[in-house]
Amino acid sequence: MTKAMTYQLGLLAIVACMGCAPSPKSGKGFTLPEGDLGRGEATYVNLQCNACHTITGVEQLATMDGAEPEISVSLGGKVSRIKTYGELVTGIINPSHKLASGYPKNEIAMEGESRMRNYNDVMTVSQLTDLVAFLQSKYELMEYEPTAYPVYSPY
Ligand code: HEC
Repeated sequence: MTKAMTYQLGLLAIVACMGCAPSPKSGKGFTLPEGDLGRGEATYVNLQCNACHTITGVEQLATMDGAEPEISVSLGGKVSRIKTYGELVTGIINPSHKLASGYPKNEIAMEGESRMRNYNDVMTVSQLTDLVAFLQSKYELMEYEPTAYPVYSPY
C-alpha cells in the first residue's frame, strides 16, 4: 500500500466515524418506563382525546350541540409501518413536529401548528406512558401486497 493510500484510508475512517457518536440532541438513550395499557385507555377517555380522535373500541365524542365533530383524526388501525414509541410520544407532546399524514393540512393545522390540544402542563408522565402503551396496541401491521405489474410486450 502506498503512503497516499494509507493516508486516504485513515481519512475515510475518520469521516465514517463522525457518525458514530450520537449528537447531544439525539434521542438515543431515551427510554420511558413501561406503561399500562388498561390505564392508558382510561386516560384516553379522561383527557378527552376522543373529542378529536377515533380509535377502535372508543367512540368519538359528539360536540355539545350534537353536530359532527370538526376534527376527526383516526389513531391505530392497519398501517404499513407501526408507529415507533418515539413517534407516538412526540405526536402527543410535540404534535406540530410532524403532522399526521393523509389529511388536508388546513383541517388538522393552522398556520403550520397542529390543532391538537396541548397537554404538556396537565398530563403526568405516567399518563403519557400509559397512553402510548394503549395507542401502540391499536396499530396493526398491514400485510404487504406486491404490486402486480402487467406484462409489457413491445410487439
Ligand atoms: C382538539 C383536538 C385534539 C385533541 C383533544 C387531541 N388531539 Fe391528537 N391530534 C389532533 C390533530 C388535529 C392531529 C393531527 C395533526 C398532528 O399530527 O398533530 C392529532 C394527532 C395526534 C397523533 C399523531 C397521529 C399520527 O398519525 O401522526 C397522536 C398520537 C395523537 N394525536 C394523540 C392524542 C392523544 C393521546 C390525545 C389525548 C391525550 C389527543 N391526541 C387529543 C387533535 C387533537
